[in-house]
Amino acid sequence: MCGIVGYIGMREAAPILLSGLQRLEYRGYDSAGIALQNGGLPFMKQKGSVGALLAAYEESPAKMVGATLGIGHTRWATHGDPSDRNAHPHLNADEDIALIHNGIVENYSLLRKELISEGYAFLSDTDSEVLVHLVDRIWKTDPSLSLEAVVRAALRHVEGAYGLCVISPRDPDKIVVARKGSPLVIGIGEGEYFIASDAAPIVEHTKKVVYLSDGEMAVVTREGYQVKTIENVETEKVITELDFSLEKIEKGGFEHFMLKEIFEQPEVMRDVMRGRVRTEEGRVVLGGIEDYLDRLKQAKRIVICACGTSWHAGLIGEYLIEDFARIPVEVDYASEFRYRNPIIGPDDVVIVISQSGETADTLAALRAAKEKGAMVMGICNVVGSTIPRETMCGIYTHAGPEVGVASTKAFTAQVIVLYMLALALSKGRTISHDEMRLSLKELSQVPEHAAKILELDAQIQTIAESFKDARNFLYLGRGYNFPVALEGALKLKEISYIHAEGYPAAEMKHGPIALIDEDMPVIFIATRDSSYNKILSNIEEVRSRKGRVIAIASEGDTEVARLAEHVIYIPQASAQIMPLLTVIPLQLLSYHIATRRGCNVDRPRNLAKSVTVE
Ligand code: M6R
Repeated sequence: MCGIVGYIGMREAAPILLSGLQRLEYRGYDSAGIALQNGGLPFMKQKGSVGALLAAYEESPAKMVGATLGIGHTRWATHGDPSDRNAHPHLNADEDIALIHNGIVENYSLLRKELISEGYAFLSDTDSEVLVHLVDRIWKTDPSLSLEAVVRAALRHVEGAYGLCVISPRDPDKIVVARKGSPLVIGIGEGEYFIASDAAPIVEHTKKVVYLSDGEMAVVTREGYQVKTIENVETEKVITELDFSLEKIEKGGFEHFMLKEIFEQPEVMRDVMRGRVRTEEGRVVLGGIEDYLDRLKQAKRIVICACGTSWHAGLIGEYLIEDFARIPVEVDYASEFRYRNPIIGPDDVVIVISQSGETADTLAALRAAKEKGAMVMGICNVVGSTIPRETMCGIYTHAGPEVGVASTKAFTAQVIVLYMLALALSKGRTISHDEMRLSLKELSQVPEHAAKILELDAQIQTIAESFKDARNFLYLGRGYNFPVALEGALKLKEISYIHAEGYPAAEMKHGPIALIDEDMPVIFIATRDSSYNKILSNIEEVRSRKGRVIAIASEGDTEVARLAEHVIYIPQASAQIMPLLTVIPLQLLSYHIATRRGCNVDRPRNLAKSVTVE
């Protein structure tokens, strides 16, 4: 999830690129850069915000002056820390090819080794840099080729996802772009063209756009654009008229970042698994912990520390790791762990989970565990944040920037990472090759299931309408769905300010049942698993006390419909997969209740996205 912008026309390119990058900063903001063509190929790139790059440009604009063609990038790190050297554009050694890239090159380490053995020197830790050297290599073998021909040939070697732009004074006055799995739009002006990863930087210049499809390349000049498939077959493109406000475009057409992030989940889930889930081979590849995997497998005990939503993901991690890998797991609130003098030693592994990588309590728990000699591992979304820097090894969630204060896509990304980790820890110990393949197959079907659940949005809106004035909510689930009940309740309270509690369903009779009356909505997560019959009895208990039941049930279930006022049907999957699915309707329900109550869902009162104080 990074931002791309390109310009070719008659105006000075640098100011257009820089203001375009500012519009794209919500897609990534850890470093930024631009490259222009004015005979040479001047570029500047650095760690930090686009504002900082703009300030640097304003101090010394001279080398950029006169360029009416250029490309720019704002980065959200996936491979390599946020730094000057990892910022895009990437250039070849002769500094006559510049390239920017969104997405992930899955086979980059293989390509990198190959290129290094041929004498290529790498200046960054990114996967993207292999692309510019591939282009360079092909061009060196046949300098008569056009820029588009060498880019096309280079892409034949690439596995993974890309949205990219390439420029070169060796074949000047054109921008070559290509898309596979990472969006690109061409904006059509009067004698000028814009390229971007979404319409946000384009809309102030022109409303006419062409969306590239997956597997397409385009050559953009001052005279026009030509779109072909990567296999070199010409394609017809339709010009679309934008009718969005700028603000809406940044949110991908959604009203709020939270809703956008909920709907992004199928894509994010694919990104989290990309290059890591090898179903056919029956294995999971987790580069960030590869060297520590044996030690992790030998752990006497794993302790997971986190806060809030990340703590809920940790609870699911406990079930997954114990289920698959049979290693004992404890889950602690980071804030409790750090102060309760826990018994931890060198045989233990402490896993800290954090979206931001900056949560003060989680960081303190990590440091406490390290002091006691435990091996510490991180699961984080923000590359280069403090937690990944202080842990010995870790796995990035690759969910892209999460702007809404209520965590949604980061949670599902964390659960997928924990599922992959549990399987990696099981391999060769507690799981057969066939079981492994089956579990990976199920995991790889999750994005499809998630997309299907998102289609239930209209039904969930209707439910939200009838419950928006409730003053309390109870969320109940068992097994893997118990942490989801906690997460559903947290989502509702933090953005709608309605009091909500999550419980394991069997605990209801030990207290919360006293709260049940006709004013108490109870959300049951009642999917078909080994405790299904027991949860049906819990629903009966609530019904007989006149509680209003909303149930999340497996497709095809008729029993639950008999008892519940509303049933949200989701695809059936194994218990281990279910949290990834059952949480989605709960996210949507919280969102729609909160907006109906007029709440600011992206910035709920009293909350911060990153809690860096105690
Ligand atoms: O960045 P972290 O994952 O460490 O943040 C932990 C919590 O502060 C966070 O999950 C919080 O509970 C969210 N607002 C939940 O939506």
